[in-house]
Amino acid sequence: MIKRIKRSLLLVAILGLTALFFACVGPETSNGNEVTSVLYQSANTPIPDRVNDLVSQMTLEEKVGQMTQVDRQFLVSENHIKKYFLGSLLSGGGSAPSVNTPESWADMTDGYQEKALETRLSIPLIYGIDAVHGHNNVYGATVFPHNIGLGATGDEDLIYRIAAATAEEVRATGIDWNFGPCITVPQDERWGRHYEGFGEEPQLVSRLGAAAITGYQGENLSDSTTILAGAKHFLADGGTEGGRDRGDAKISEEELRRIHLFPYYAAIEAGAGNVMASFSSWNGEQMHGNKYLLQDVLRGELGFDGFTVSDWAALTLLPGNYDQQVALGINAGIDMVMVPDDYIRFIQSMIRNVEDGNIPVERIDEAVSNILVKKFELGLFEDPFAPRDLLETVGSDAHRAIGREAVAKSQVLLKNEGSILPLSNDIKNLVVIGSLSDNIGAQCGGWTISWQGSSGDITPGTSVLDGIKELVGENTTIYTSLDDASGVDIDAIICVVGERPYAEMQGDNSKLELAFAHKNFIEEASNHSSGAPVITLLISGRPLMMTPQIEMSDAFIASWLPGTEGGGVADVLFGDYNPTGKLPVSWPRDISQVPVNVGDENYDPLYPFGFGLSY
Ligand code: GLC
Repeated sequence: MIKRIKRSLLLVAILGLTALFFACVGPETSNGNEVTSVLYQSANTPIPDRVNDLVSQMTLEEKVGQMTQVDRQFLVSENHIKKYFLGSLLSGGGSAPSVNTPESWADMTDGYQEKALETRLSIPLIYGIDAVHGHNNVYGATVFPHNIGLGATGDEDLIYRIAAATAEEVRATGIDWNFGPCITVPQDERWGRHYEGFGEEPQLVSRLGAAAITGYQGENLSDSTTILAGAKHFLADGGTEGGRDRGDAKISEEELRRIHLFPYYAAIEAGAGNVMASFSSWNGEQMHGNKYLLQDVLRGELGFDGFTVSDWAALTLLPGNYDQQVALGINAGIDMVMVPDDYIRFIQSMIRNVEDGNIPVERIDEAVSNILVKKFELGLFEDPFAPRDLLETVGSDAHRAIGREAVAKSQVLLKNEGSILPLSNDIKNLVVIGSLSDNIGAQCGGWTISWQGSSGDITPGTSVLDGIKELVGENTTIYTSLDDASGVDIDAIICVVGERPYAEMQGDNSKLELAFAHKNFIEEASNHSSGAPVITLLISGRPLMMTPQIEMSDAFIASWLPGTEGGGVADVLFGDYNPTGKLPVSWPRDISQVPVNVGDENYDPLYPFGFGLSY
């Protein structure tokens, strides 16, 4: 609390001194040293006037600084925030303070803001992070299902509430910009980011993407509980050949618009304040250099009026030498560059490019203005510090309840022979096997605590097994191996199988096979002498090629990547929630069908888009 008072006093002092200085010495011509006008500091001034007043007195170095985003782990010194007038920091996946607690995140970001406020014009930072399924970098935060599971719910109100809860947890830590929602329309299950999309069908993605944006940004961006939403990745990140991450979408403009551009209409209508460019290419042209799509289409046709950001070091993928790459990206319409490491080199290149006439000053002023509008709308000039009163919301029971609701609604019941589900809470002998049954890290998937995610107890939560234990009666015995249940009259066997955590290109997979050990779990269970019914749960970011294993199971549920609230899976298993989930993607019979999407000719998947059983 004392820190917060100190910071507020600092803010008042800066504002007071600036006003006093102006009163004493009067307006001076700006040679980059004096503040010639404090009009931009006044919250009562219309934002366009605040922007014009501020830009008109900024030096080229200050403008370029605003366009520079650095991952905090690469800061040579925190003083470089001031020295290079940095406008934005980010935490890439896993880029956390040494002590990963919500409070230490808030202390870290507030410390960075103090440095930014020491600059001549006291322009606050905007801080970005991938809170793609809750505030997933922060230990103890609520981790919601990844988007593919939310796609299975089809529930806009639920996605709105998840986004609003996430916004509170993110803002509590002094962060004000989410690199999300990802409104990709993944067309190929082999893509390592398949689970980051709500589904394969543009209308579904459009509805849920807009709901997320509205949840993040709320009614008023300047509210202390809202954050800027960043729709990503523009454009056709999910349409690349072979599902290769950062690959080439070799498709017609008609398909590009019908499938991949479609969700951006609703996203912009919902007021998305930021758009992130895609690493991928369209018919051989890198998205980060595609002026037609970044300017003519995104701004000209769709009316996007926020700011764009590059993806991680993506300008270096453009043709030419470094200066040419920078000029190409900025002139194509990239406003802010996620450098994110060698920021001094980037800044020097920008200055050279402007001085050599390769980047017009008008383009710089346009980019800086786009960025500053959002900083003013967020209220960062009034109060850039973490609203500490929100810290109690991080991982709160209320947020976890929303997570559990989302998990239950995301379960897709694909098979239920003889209606063996729902199980009775009074079941006597239950076997729960599979290496993913008691594994928080696996059920969270990638983008959790670290970039790739990891197996095990990586953050507080309820595993699937924990959830089952909570719901069974006192007369139930749970065995976690078939050997332990030898000779027992088993009533049911639950096998929890699936994928280990992964993110981005590390999840690209040309076979989509279940691990051999996981196939074994199911085969052993289905051949067990007890003849007990087998219920298979798949924890994965996408359909896997497991038709034989599904045939061996009496019941089969796609659980996707549920996050920390595994109790929602048990809610469906025991009928506390009657499953309503519907497939957001088509389920291939085997790899020869991949990619398969609703609307294809001769469409004949194992389970079609929109399929899902209830009790
Ligand atoms: C990554 C991803 C992007 C993410 C960014 C910052 O490479 O492509 O989705 O927002 O870098 O972590």
